[in-house]
Amino acid sequence: MKARLQSRAARRVQPDTRVLIPRKSPRRFYGQGIPGVELDKLIGKLIVVEGADGSGRSTQIKLLVDWLESAGHATVQVGLKRSTLVAEELERARQGNILSRTTLSLFYATDFADQLENIILLALRAGQMVLADRYIYTLMARDIVRGIDRKWLENLYGMALVPDAVFYLNVAPEELVQRTFAKYSALNYWESGMDLGLSRDMFDSFLQYQAMMVRTFKELQRTYGFHIIDGHRPVQEINAELRRKIEAVLAGHPLK
Ligand SMILES: Nc1ncnc2c1ncn2[C@@H]1O[C@H](COP(=O)(O)OP(=O)(O)O)[C@@H](O)[C@H]1O
Ligand SMILES: [Mg+2]
Repeated sequence: MKARLQSRAARRVQPDTRVLIPRKSPRRFYGQGIPGVELDKLIGKLIVVEGADGSGRSTQIKLLVDWLESAGHATVQVGLKRSTLVAEELERARQGNILSRTTLSLFYATDFADQLENIILLALRAGQMVLADRYIYTLMARDIVRGIDRKWLENLYGMALVPDAVFYLNVAPEELVQRTFAKYSALNYWESGMDLGLSRDMFDSFLQYQAMMVRTFKELQRTYGFHIIDGHRPVQEINAELRRKIEAVLAGHPLK
């Protein structure tokens, strides 16, 4: 048991000598928000990692959690389709391909709202660090490429809290294919946009769909100001950049 603990500890990221106490920064919702929330009580930090499937989000978040926890910060992880309320039903609806675009969109929004109210806001109130594996931007981009009105989506996701930082891991679609094949030996139906009927060839559809998603993210970037991170570099190099930027966020400095 002791040896196992030691080997786990040895695998951990070396802790920083400094422990940063998060500084408070002004908080706001994108739009109407969630009623009854006292924004000035949300003292934790919300850090979002966005990017396509295979862009390295899970890899980076795992390293960030190890780093933050070894520096004494309690962390909470959230992601899409993880709410206890609707995650199972959402998966079933996706499998069956039975819901209309708008209904599916609202289903995802419900999953998001549930996690926002019951996990994210509570954790921030308790002063915890929340790491989100994707946020409203992926949901919006997926819907925009499927023809849903952007203004309608902006209004819907006006319930979302503005994060302290949003990092977008930028990786070329060709590299995403390589990584996804290496990991799963197959492409995912939805991540290939097969429901859009772009091409009967999944590989071809994947490249077209991911290119559409990249264009949409670029548009959203103008409104939401993500920090674009070059995701082609080695894992540790990317993580070092993320840590530097998160340290700035913790110190209450706006990111440049
Ligand atoms: N910077 C990187 N360079 C090369 N391969 C990477 C890098 N980051 C992650 N990978 C690999 O790519 C695959 C997808 O990474 P993962 O973190 O699961 O992505 P995501 O969570 O965004 O889908 C994994 O096999 C992972 O080991
Ligand atoms: Mg992942």
